[in-house]
Amino acid sequence: MRISSALDFREAARRRLPRFLFDYVDGAAYAEATARRNVDDLAAVELRQRVLVDVSRIDLSTTLFGALQALPVMLGPVGLAGLYARRGEAQAARAAAAKGVPLCLSSMAVCALPEVAAASSLPLWFQLYVIKDRGFLAELLAVARDAGCAGLMLTVDLPMPGARYRDLHSGLAGPNARRRRLAQALAHPRWAWDVGLRGRPHGLGNFAAVLGRKSGLEDYVGWIGRNFDASLTWRDLDAIRAHWSGPLVIKGILDPEDARRAVDEGADGIVVSNHGGRQLDGVPSTARALPIIAEAVGGRATLLVDGGVRSGLDVLRMLALGAQGVLLGRAWAYALAAGGGAGVARLLDIVAAELRIGMALTGVARVEDIGRSILA
Ligand code: GLV
Repeated sequence: MRISSALDFREAARRRLPRFLFDYVDGAAYAEATARRNVDDLAAVELRQRVLVDVSRIDLSTTLFGALQALPVMLGPVGLAGLYARRGEAQAARAAAAKGVPLCLSSMAVCALPEVAAASSLPLWFQLYVIKDRGFLAELLAVARDAGCAGLMLTVDLPMPGARYRDLHSGLAGPNARRRRLAQALAHPRWAWDVGLRGRPHGLGNFAAVLGRKSGLEDYVGWIGRNFDASLTWRDLDAIRAHWSGPLVIKGILDPEDARRAVDEGADGIVVSNHGGRQLDGVPSTARALPIIAEAVGGRATLLVDGGVRSGLDVLRMLALGAQGVLLGRAWAYALAAGGGAGVARLLDIVAAELRIGMALTGVARVEDIGRSILA
């Protein structure tokens, strides 16, 4: 099959990955209603078709947090991406940077920050989860600083993992599921050889210092539940600021009151997000929340968004709803699983082409000019 969209990559990833990995990236919480809403509400955003505007020269570039990017897109943080392809985060960062698109490395990556930073010709962003071992916070932020990270994304919507039934079924959650995962891996020999064997070491690279001899993958979801600090509050932002002087973005805001508070507390940016529907099922889609938050923030911080973005046209819609930048999540994970770094590069080409067509047909030639005026 010739891959022509993010959905084609999803199908290829489904075939390639052992079930526990596909279900982890593809799945969401409870009935997965919010995850579906993210996609459906975004697809339902109607655009105005405009004609006879000169769109012969379309510029897809934009500046976010002072850095010029080729596209108004970032590869958002995705856990365990180093298991989707061999040393996956490094492959993805290299491919994206070559396209002028930065990657935000997940705390829960397999490859540690220095390995990924070395592969990327653009500075990375780093996504932070705060664990109960507060001494480790300073250590981790020092690594991010030394790796030249351009910004920090503090994820705040995961004080504990959401109930994800697929992970329980497939064996990513719960102890003693190793044999189940092994059987799934053996049923996918290409993955088992390429990633399972040749892609080692497997573990939570950024947490190696606190994991000791463990990998963190023995009971991945359980490790999150036991180690993430559910006592984190607004007051802790100062402790993070004490160790981080660069741009600070708060990821996982869905409520306008929280958005205003984040800006009042000095956040440089916000990611409007429901964690891809992986946390609290039943909350609104980000396509619905975004315009409300954009109004609450009133231009006082940079607005990023994720959730349900599967095409360049979806990127255009999110920008029209008020975002300045869009995070891809599952879309790039599917592409990485299906085709490694080349898959990620191809995905970004597809997204760029789709965004260009969308801009042409709505009559805008520059990213800065995309706004509510293109909404029907
Ligand atoms: C981690 O951030 C996850 O959503 O699994």
